Amino acid sequence: MAVLTGSGISSESGLPTFRGAGGLWRTHRVEQLASPEGFERDPRLVWTWYNERRAAHHQAQPNAGHDALAQMQDLFGDFTLITQNVDSLHLRAGSRRVLELHGNLREARCTGCAARRSLEDGMPMDAIDHACGGRFRPDIVWFGEPLPQDVWHAAMEASMRADVMLVVGTSGMVYPAAALATEFCGEAFVVEINPEETALSHAVDVTLRGSAATVLPELLARLRS
Ligand code: APR
Repeated sequence: MAVLTGSGISSESGLPTFRGAGGLWRTHRVEQLASPEGFERDPRLVWTWYNERRAAHHQAQPNAGHDALAQMQDLFGDFTLITQNVDSLHLRAGSRRVLELHGNLREARCTGCAARRSLEDGMPMDAIDHACGGRFRPDIVWFGEPLPQDVWHAAMEASMRADVMLVVGTSGMVYPAAALATEFCGEAFVVEINPEETALSHAVDVTLRGSAATVLPELLARLRS
């Protein structure tokens, strides 16, 4: 079993999605905040935004959808959870093997050396510049950047060998993540869980029109019965 999740699974934890009503890309400029060029141009603006998101992640709690996936992992010998989210809610719900395709907001990394620092308390504005001459940046994947190759290959392999793939809470607009549910899912039976139609809906085997926090617990209950 492989599962691919997007920001929709965290919406019932109170975190905004990106492209829906109230989504982050409706109220913020992507190229200013989530790109290497935007960071180069104004690192303090970018850190102000990511400190706000990190604080929101801290405040949020895993919801019934995250919890159901954490319990579902014990029902399958081979279960891989692949997420596009950087909010760490799957890990806080108890999921063990989580492939974070777009990184996470638990740490910052230096652009000039291998130094890393925790983002437990956010990034202080006077600590962005590192003694090596580099700058601390969020350890996540920005638009135009490659995914971490080890994570991507593990996600592709999990998708290719899966018998069943759940695609939960993603619009399927961002590649290569979305390709895990189409060209890289081998012979898997693909089930989409989303209250709305997405760019993937035409390609999946079944669409369950509902929210993650409702459908996933029901799915878990049926798997256990
Ligand atoms: N349960 C399930 N799905 C939901 C719920 C819910 N309660 N609420 C919203 N959704 C769905 C929406 O219908 C939408 O299809 O979640 C999806 C969110 O889509 P996006 O906002 O595009 O987020 P996502 O697919 O995660 O974006 C992928 O784009 O901006 C980049 O790096 C960012 O990881 C992100 C990537």
